Amino acid sequence: MLKTKIIKIDEKNINNPEELGKLREAAGIIKNGGLVVFPTETVYGLGADALNRNAVGKIYKAKGRPSDNPLIVHFSNAGDIYKYAEVNETAGKIINKFMPAPLTLVLKKKNGLLNYASPNLDTVAVRVPRNKTARKLIELAGTPIAAPSANLSGKPSPTSAEHIISDLNGRADMIICGESSEIGLESTVISFNPDNPDNGINILRSGFITREMLSEFNISENNLSENNNKNNPPVCPGIKYRHYSPDAPLRILSGENHRIIDFIKRENINNKNKKIGFLCFDELSEYFDKSENIAVISLGPRDNLNEQAKNLFGALNKFNNIGVDIIYSIEPSRKEIGEAVYNRLMKASGGKVCGV
Ligand code: TXA
Ligand code: MG
Repeated sequence: MLKTKIIKIDEKNINNPEELGKLREAAGIIKNGGLVVFPTETVYGLGADALNRNAVGKIYKAKGRPSDNPLIVHFSNAGDIYKYAEVNETAGKIINKFMPAPLTLVLKKKNGLLNYASPNLDTVAVRVPRNKTARKLIELAGTPIAAPSANLSGKPSPTSAEHIISDLNGRADMIICGESSEIGLESTVISFNPDNPDNGINILRSGFITREMLSEFNISENNLSENNNKNNPPVCPGIKYRHYSPDAPLRILSGENHRIIDFIKRENINNKNKKIGFLCFDELSEYFDKSENIAVISLGPRDNLNEQAKNLFGALNKFNNIGVDIIYSIEPSRKEIGEAVYNRLMKASGGKVCGV
């Protein structure tokens, strides 16, 4: 059990001497091989010096993460990526177009320096976060930072400091509490064809940088589940390992609004000893009142996809705190970032969609 120092940072003023001082202390911990939880625009990360084998090993231990699930390495500026990875022509264009961004590129390693983040692979995942606190921390540490999402393995990713404190207090040297994550879902992960890297990209994990935004780069229609079996390191986040699971089972309901409302009310009456959670949109939450004893959490308006993304993991964590027995969820739109929201919900549900 580590003694975790929990600090608050004013993310709007990170260049003020007081805030800079806090980030210098955090950077010192990273340099000395320790673990620091820090905000990014996607979700909070659990960071360690990517060039220090022992420090990277501590991440796996703290999260209870399987040792063959590789980590993303974070840089403060895109130029540094070229020192550690082979940047093919398409990757170069993507870097120039988007970075810093909630986007991760899986590239061929250039030298062995980033081996600890992906020990058995000839590729490494790299990203330059858009969040200024994250970039400043990396810059002050003077080393790339390996960081997975700061949750215990298999649990929903943390989008606010309070989620982390319950998961990682005692497992990291420092937790930097900043604002709630602006996007709320992990970065989009893309890879390139190893034989012909300039011949299209694969989207391994959907996120804020959507299929539509990447469409000029020739997206391959690959079957991710075929690339993955138990003996190989995971190529697609979330296929081999359970991801994003709230404590209670989650079921996605497909059907018209009034049928969904009837279904939830009926289930509640028929299962008096079960606490039901309902993950919905604003227009559905109005149909329930407190006396029904259903935990109703809205992701926001049906047509505001960014807000749904931002609220999803917070909602799943809230259901954990309430302690529900089952969660029923509406089926979100699959347009734009909705694809990523849908993908996280599908994983949380184990692929269980029920028609009502
Ligand atoms: O937004 C994010 O990406 C956050 C913040 C902290 O940056 N990080 C994050 O890390 O979500 P993590 O470890 O929870 O998810 C990274 C995913 C893993 O599922 C892993 O399998 C995949 O990226 N990955 C990492 N390196 C890879 C590689 N070389 N090839 C294929 N997939 C890789
Ligand atoms: Mg994760």
